[in-house]
Amino acid sequence: MGTATIYEIAPDLFRLSIYVPDFDMQFNHFLVCDDEPLLFHAGLKGMFPTLREAVAKIIDPAKLRHIAWSHFESDEIGALNDWLQVAPQGQLVGKLVSVDDFSIRPARGMTPEDVLTTGKYRYRFYRSPHIPHGWDAGVLFEETRKTLFCSDLFHHFGNVEPVTTSDLIGPTRKAMQQLEQGPLAGYMPYTRQTEGVLRSLADLKPETLSVMHGSSYCGKCDGLLIDLAGVIKETFDQ
Ligand SMILES: [Fe+2]
Ligand SMILES: [Fe+2]
Repeated sequence: MGTATIYEIAPDLFRLSIYVPDFDMQFNHFLVCDDEPLLFHAGLKGMFPTLREAVAKIIDPAKLRHIAWSHFESDEIGALNDWLQVAPQGQLVGKLVSVDDFSIRPARGMTPEDVLTTGKYRYRFYRSPHIPHGWDAGVLFEETRKTLFCSDLFHHFGNVEPVTTSDLIGPTRKAMQQLEQGPLAGYMPYTRQTEGVLRSLADLKPETLSVMHGSSYCGKCDGLLIDLAGVIKETFDQ
C-alpha cells in the first residue's frame, strides 16, 4: 500500500500518513519517541507492512513499548497482533473493551486516574463515549506538551498538509456533510453528553491536535473543540 509520508509535527512526535486515493483520505498514525516509544493507532492490517517500514525509519520497531487507540475499529487497532509480534515488550494501552478477545497478549486498561509515563512524556486516557463514535471511545492526552490524540475528531478529506495552524472547523464540517449524504450516514452520534465531553477536553488546553484523518493542528485548541460540538450538533442532531 504505497509508502507512508513521515513528518515530525512536534519534537519527538512523528506523523506517519498513508493516503488512500479511493477514499480521498489520509490514515495517520503517530509515533512518539521516548525511552518507551508509543504508537497511537496500530492501523489497518493491510497497512501494517507500510507502517512498519515507516516506523523503522525512525526507531527499531522491536523497541516499541506502547500501542494506544481510541475505539475498537480496524483502522485504529486492526494490526494489533502484528505489532505485538514485532515488539516483544509491546503492550496495548487503552480501554479494555473487546481488545482482550483479539489480542495475543493482555492489554493494559487505563482509567482517567492512571498516568502512563514513558520517560519524558506522561499520558492520560480520557473517556469520551460515542465521541467520535463507539461506547468504548476515549482520547489520549500527553500532558507535558499538551498533545491530544483525538482520533476521528476533526476528520477531513484530501491529501492535505501534515500540520495546519488555520481553521480545522471548515474542512471538518464539509467532510461531515459529505459523509452524511452517503452510505456511512449516521457514523457519529450527537448526544446530550457531546458538548460536555468536548468542553472537558477543551479544559485540558491542548496545544496540538493529532488528527487521524487530515491535517494535525498546532496552536490553541480549546476553541476548536468547543466549536466542534456545535458542528456535530448541527450535522447529527436531526
Ligand atoms: Fe472511527
Ligand atoms: Fe479513523
